[in-house]
Amino acid sequence: MSSRTVIRGGLVVTASDEIHADVLIEDGRVAALAATGTPAAEAFTAENAIDASGKYVIPGGVDGHTHMEMPFGGTYAADTFETGTRAAAWGGTTTIVDFAIQSVGHSLREGLDAWHAKAEGNCAVDYGFHMIVSDVNQETLKEMDLLVEEGVTSFKQFMAYPGVFYSDDGQILRAMQRAAGNGGLIMMHAENGIAIDVLVEQALACGETDPRFHGEVRKALLEAEATHRAIRLAQVAGAPLYVVHVSATEALAELTRARDEGLPVFGETCPQYLFLSTDNLAEPDFEGAKYVCSTPLRPREHQAALWRGLRTNDLQVVSTDHCPFCFSGQKELGRGDFSKIPNGMPGVENRMDLLHQAVVDGHISRRRWIEIACATPARMFGLYPKKGTIAPGADADIVVYDPHAEQVVSAETHHMNVDYSAYEGRRITGRVETVLSRGEPVVTEREYTGRKGHGLYTPRATCQYID
Ligand code: URP
Ligand code: ZN
Ligand code: ZN
Ligand code: ZN
Repeated sequence: MSSRTVIRGGLVVTASDEIHADVLIEDGRVAALAATGTPAAEAFTAENAIDASGKYVIPGGVDGHTHMEMPFGGTYAADTFETGTRAAAWGGTTTIVDFAIQSVGHSLREGLDAWHAKAEGNCAVDYGFHMIVSDVNQETLKEMDLLVEEGVTSFKQFMAYPGVFYSDDGQILRAMQRAAGNGGLIMMHAENGIAIDVLVEQALACGETDPRFHGEVRKALLEAEATHRAIRLAQVAGAPLYVVHVSATEALAELTRARDEGLPVFGETCPQYLFLSTDNLAEPDFEGAKYVCSTPLRPREHQAALWRGLRTNDLQVVSTDHCPFCFSGQKELGRGDFSKIPNGMPGVENRMDLLHQAVVDGHISRRRWIEIACATPARMFGLYPKKGTIAPGADADIVVYDPHAEQVVSAETHHMNVDYSAYEGRRITGRVETVLSRGEPVVTEREYTGRKGHGLYTPRATCQYID
């Protein structure tokens, strides 16, 4: 039995076009688009109709950087795959790519199996995995080839966190060489963790224990230095490079320089770096801990450079790095020692709205919003055109977005499993109204109609992005 839905009268916005069109969905996929009011559109017949007059019809968001249930600093990120993907759906994101973790001394396979077990049957929207490689050795390198073949086509390495996820330059070079051969994409956490640990030790020895010192020791120059080193190692290996959570002007300058040289180097930033700053880290009464993440928030002046990078395409993607820890009981582990505050912030539910606010504020165009939040992450991570656009054959992952609705962000009303919002009290113009995942209504006129287990594991092709 086929099931059909038609979305009528909205402004369909993709990375490349804006057209007033009706969208016909059949069996979970986009079947056809036709300009609203034309005979072709009138001929669409369906059991279900959604009126999108006055609204945008956009592809579901693709969040290429989440950490559901991530173990960190003796605790776990507070969103499970169930709660985190439900919150994602509420925020108009219909695909996440989460990071499976290899523990030192264990195989990639063990890590990946463990993440499949956490996610399977629990997700509200579709999901894929990157692999965090914490232990580069001959076996791991061979496993990278196998993972690429089965749809885990990107590997995160860390120049930070010595003794946990850290890889040295030799390990990084070897993994990059492997990726150059198998089509994998290396994603880099670019901060000089060895130097940072010295500064952490010195700060604590001077009694500098407050959350704001997290921002002071993780210096912009140490992000820039690591970014430069990662770029040159990738160049030597002949591999493309994707730098995650870029926050500093100086690091972005390294990416810009490399791209001007024609290197296949890409960058992601996150809403927290675009909307928040060290002012938040300095909030009194330990409240700054809510904003502890790495790379850290930067002084406000860095925001203009990041917006510019998003406009000039020196940065291509905005992901959330969603890694929520409750203030109560989790962030509090670092009272009296900022280095013990679990690193990470919530945001999977807020990204599409915050970026729409950036459209309203004139930082980016409407199509660029869709490009950086849907289309490019889908292409970067081998999911396009199944995800990231609205075109015949694509999965019907579609959001009806009300660009005029006003909302105030708050932990009281959000759906993430965390006891604070990093954007508490912020006014946003625009709101998700209805969300379809493969044609199924997950959110219907601001009511949750999804279900745990609807979301499916989605193996990925290799990186399709070369711009
Ligand atoms: O602070 C962060 N970003 N936590 C998540 C882990 C990472 O480095 O992405
Ligand atoms: Zn093992
Ligand atoms: Zn990272
Ligand atoms: Zn992350």
